[in-house]
Amino acid sequence: MAPMGAIEMSALGQAMRQWLWLYPAVETVHLVGVALLFGSIAVFDLRLLGLSRSIPLRRLAAHVLPWTAASFALIVPSGLAMFVAHASELIQSPVFALKISLIFVAGTNAAAYHLATGRGAAQWDLDAMPPPLVRASAAASLVLWISVIACGRLLAYV
Ligand code: HEM
Repeated sequence: MAPMGAIEMSALGQAMRQWLWLYPAVETVHLVGVALLFGSIAVFDLRLLGLSRSIPLRRLAAHVLPWTAASFALIVPSGLAMFVAHASELIQSPVFALKISLIFVAGTNAAAYHLATGRGAAQWDLDAMPPPLVRASAAASLVLWISVIACGRLLAYV
């Protein structure tokens, strides 16, 4: 049996397809995670774009970014469980491939901010407009995460 077929035939795969309430329950967990991920990221990116500059950037980061990290504990296991249910279809889906690629690009963009462009945050912590490179990366982050959400939603149709 092809590896994806074996994954689908696993106990989890079968339960995900056969137990009426399991798939929608898992999908709800995925969406709660997505809401937490995108909500926390959007608030932070809008601040980086120069809105709400009276809120100290580093305090905002300390408050919202742990929630971004926590959201992955909801998103990844639920996403994998839904993947297992329809592994052989999803592995061939260009939309799924695009979604996973966009997650990597968005993650790389976030890492570039935290490791490089955002290191001088002390200088624009309060009131000052963040530098253009930081604003560009925040705008890209919003576009990338919205595209990931669109790809996730599209999986049900394409
Ligand atoms: C990290 C950010 C992620 C975001 C923003 C995201 C977003 C979404 C959204 C909005 C949906 C549509 C839910 C619905 O139509 O009710 C979805 C579905 C789905 N996601 Fe994700 N997702 C993410 C990560 C993942 C990961 C890591 C995986 C798997 C490895 C995954 C696998 C799936 C699968 C299999 C579906 C089901 C599609 C369906 O049943 O129609 N997702 N995702």
